[in-house]
Amino acid sequence: MAGNQDNMMPDQNNVPKVKIRNVTKTYSSKRGDVIALNGFNLDIKENEFICVVGPSGCGKSTMLNILAGLDNATSGEILVDGNVIHGPSPDRGVVFQQYALFPWLTVKKNVEFGLRLKKLSRQEVSDIADHYIEMVGLQDFKNSYPKELSGGMKQRVAIARAYAMQPKLLLMDEPFGALDAQTRTQLQSELLKTWEEERRTCFFITHDVEEAVILAQRVIIMSARPGRIIDIVDIDIPYPRNQETKMEPKFFELKNKIWSQVYNQYLEQRK
Ligand SMILES: Nc1ncnc2c1ncn2[C@@H]1O[C@H](COP(=O)(O)OP(=O)(O)OP(=O)(O)O)[C@@H](O)[C@H]1O
Ligand SMILES: [Mg+2]
Repeated sequence: MAGNQDNMMPDQNNVPKVKIRNVTKTYSSKRGDVIALNGFNLDIKENEFICVVGPSGCGKSTMLNILAGLDNATSGEILVDGNVIHGPSPDRGVVFQQYALFPWLTVKKNVEFGLRLKKLSRQEVSDIADHYIEMVGLQDFKNSYPKELSGGMKQRVAIARAYAMQPKLLLMDEPFGALDAQTRTQLQSELLKTWEEERRTCFFITHDVEEAVILAQRVIIMSARPGRIIDIVDIDIPYPRNQETKMEPKFFELKNKIWSQVYNQYLEQRK
């Protein structure tokens, strides 16, 4: 079986880290069934940065929640390193649109929270937390509480916390969606820098096509509900990237190509 072979293979760039196989999701309610996902198939490579775009309600969050193990697929399966996933795991870190920080804990304690469940010494936990707090530029706010931070700063803490757990897979559901344009741009740059320094396998959902193109190696375009993949676009723009990359002709070309497909799906949905 392919799954068993994968177990024996070392992590390599050409071996899929994550296999999403024919995932469907139907929500049933008194008002009838809603097919949220209809045959979602994708291989994600080790350390790959994937962005997912698609019209509102097409099933992006549903897919991410199933990947996180927070929800079950109606059919199909997901393999991470060859193992079928059942439920949540610290191997899969999640960052949501609304910063899910513990309000009664300081920045440092928030980042340390999950690490404390690992078999690490207090010093190791503290050092790892410091490293990631510094990476997101919050070293001067280690002892602050979430209520003392701006929205952008809170989201940086959420990213530091997810990164600190060193998950195999980082799942981000519109993490910058609630932020103003300037903070959003700043956090994109920081996330890019973080990923360029310490590559991780990322599955990042966004409404913002520009954000998808600046971050991703591949952009997944989903159809209007019931969601399935209609196109996968390779973003062949080398890293390191920065905000100036957005001025390059190649960037415009890819952004327009993706945007027109997303817009067509939006029109489809309104029919
Ligand atoms: N718990 C639920 N019960 C019933 N229907 C649901 C549930 N969660 C989502 N849905 C439906 O499934 C579809 C997909 O929802 P989902 O949240 O995955 O979309 P999305 O692509 O993330 O949208 P958005 O871009 O607005 O966040 C929608 O039609 C939604 O109404
Ligand atoms: Mg969503």
